[in-house]
Amino acid sequence: MATNILEINGLNVHYGDSHVLHNVSFELKQGHLLALMGRNGAGKTTSQLTISGLLPVSSGEMHLKGVNFAHHSPESIAKSGIRLVPQGRRVFASLSVEENLIVAEQKKGNTSQWNLAKVYDLFPALKPKKDQRSGTLSGGEQQMLVIGRALMGNPSVLLLDEPSEGLAPLIVQEVNHSIAKLKNEGLSIILVEQNFSVAKTLADDFVILNTGRVAFKGTSEEVAANPELATQHLGIF
Ligand SMILES: Nc1ncnc2c1ncn2[C@@H]1O[C@H](COP(=O)(O)OP(=O)(O)O)[C@@H](O)[C@H]1O
Ligand SMILES: [Mg+2]
Repeated sequence: MATNILEINGLNVHYGDSHVLHNVSFELKQGHLLALMGRNGAGKTTSQLTISGLLPVSSGEMHLKGVNFAHHSPESIAKSGIRLVPQGRRVFASLSVEENLIVAEQKKGNTSQWNLAKVYDLFPALKPKKDQRSGTLSGGEQQMLVIGRALMGNPSVLLLDEPSEGLAPLIVQEVNHSIAKLKNEGLSIILVEQNFSVAKTLADDFVILNTGRVAFKGTSEEVAANPELATQHLGIF
């Protein structure tokens, strides 16, 4: 059985006085793709931001390969191998595609797996546009670029927050295909995804949040065996 690369334990997070995450605990197994789901406002983005160190932890622990990083800085968390592709893709619009990728590069001794060639291999659409200002790219190309940028940091855990949001169906397919490829290469991924059928094709494990609490945690087989989950917690009928 795969070991846990990431463990979230009793996480509580506030925005000011507002208590948003309540005692959230879940695990990401090495090489697995975990779909983080839940209605709008359930706390998915808050979870991703907290794991990235961008929101402070009120209480609880977060372990990467056994090390508690709950109170580490976003820079140190990124360096340790957790990379976030935030919701609402943001590129450095005035930089070219290639410059966007180069500024994100982080070599890890000899183990550096990601480079420009490999990103272009994953997203062939980006290569002919490498010298173009990234602000002029289509939404789909910008999404590929922000994922490419995260990969240039050679992550061991990739956090994706609704990468398909607002993209045309054909582009969504392409992005999902790339995510599947990354998983097959052994990358550990937490994917926030609104589309339940997409999540079911990509994910090994599921965490469903409901008003900031873990309402369900289980494998894709367990999700398939519990069709009421979708109506109970995802608003799908
Ligand atoms: N910057 C913020 N300040 C205060 N409350 C926030 C902020 N961002 C999100 N929230 C609240 O936190 C809860 C969880 O939001 P969020 O994590 O964005 O949900 P999701 O990504 O699942 O749609 C919601 O009730 C939302 O209104
Ligand atoms: Mg969100």
